[in-house]
Amino acid sequence: MNYTQFARRNYLQGPTPIEPMPQLSKVLGGDVNLFIKRDDLLPGASGGNKTRKLEFCIADAMENGADTIITCGAVQSNHCRLTASWCAKEGLDCHLVLEERVAGSYKKEASGNNFLFELLDVKSIDVVAGGSDMMAEMQKKVGELSVAGKTPYIIPGGASNAIGATGYAVCAEEIMAQLNEMRLSIDHMVVPSGSAGTHAGMAVGMTGVNGNIPIFGMNVSRPKEVQEEIVYKLAVETAERLHVRGGIDREAIVCFGDYVGPGYSLPTDSMIEAVTLFAKTEAVLLDPVYSGKAAAGLINQVRKDTFAKGSNVLFLHTGGSPALYAYLDTFRS
Ligand SMILES: Cc1ncc(COP(=O)(O)O)c(C=O)c1O
Repeated sequence: MNYTQFARRNYLQGPTPIEPMPQLSKVLGGDVNLFIKRDDLLPGASGGNKTRKLEFCIADAMENGADTIITCGAVQSNHCRLTASWCAKEGLDCHLVLEERVAGSYKKEASGNNFLFELLDVKSIDVVAGGSDMMAEMQKKVGELSVAGKTPYIIPGGASNAIGATGYAVCAEEIMAQLNEMRLSIDHMVVPSGSAGTHAGMAVGMTGVNGNIPIFGMNVSRPKEVQEEIVYKLAVETAERLHVRGGIDREAIVCFGDYVGPGYSLPTDSMIEAVTLFAKTEAVLLDPVYSGKAAAGLINQVRKDTFAKGSNVLFLHTGGSPALYAYLDTFRS
């Protein structure tokens, strides 16, 4: 796997840690050894997975002469927070289009990521109804800003195109180098699966470096079959971009739709349990929308004995903890 030909900014400062989670493993019965890859500790305001993707997406924007980034996400989007963060560092203007996926959920004065958009000097926020064509909305913004003399560049939601997913193919290579160094054999990985770039990139990277670690994607918004097709399509595009020999096996893309609950960003009891358990056993802060629901899936699969006794399972922590502060009522009620 060779990605040296692609433009890339240097946002990572070395590998993120892989840590054991002995207390959580014990609380869950002790049959499975849980580990965590701390991408919540990546650089960029408050950390999280998008930094890896933005290394490639923002580099591509800059190579194309852009002075302005337009991107989109939900009202508490971590992706929008990290895009604003790296734009601030790079001296680029950042404009956001936010999708109100739950009617009435956008509040200008809200806490969490929404507050951070302001602090990170986002130049404009357009809020559109759930189900809007986000690419069309961003194209509208391109029109406005171009007339005003700017050179805008669109980064798609979640930075989930083949350019962004490349960041997670690189992460798979990083993980294998760490595991080889640690002499740690991982039997399974569990990752959140949302706009799909993280899951697709990881699947491509694992294939590209011959890691042979099966990956379970825990969905945050869609049913199993729908998400698997989205991840697979993006994985195929990313594998082509990286010239991964043999391409991607459809069977390698496995998603679980059981932990979404009533819908994207809506709390579930299992998410609340997962966030609480990770905090009190390992002092790890998850988030209510992505890593919390993915961890709920991990916990449930451990309890269902999906993983063989004695196996080592690595959970990818993709960040998102600023959103916790927008969900105080959920955790206090
Ligand atoms: C904290 C966090 N974890 C996981 C994800 C899901 O990653 P992806 O969109 O690449 O599937 C997101 C997406 O926004 C996120 O913000």
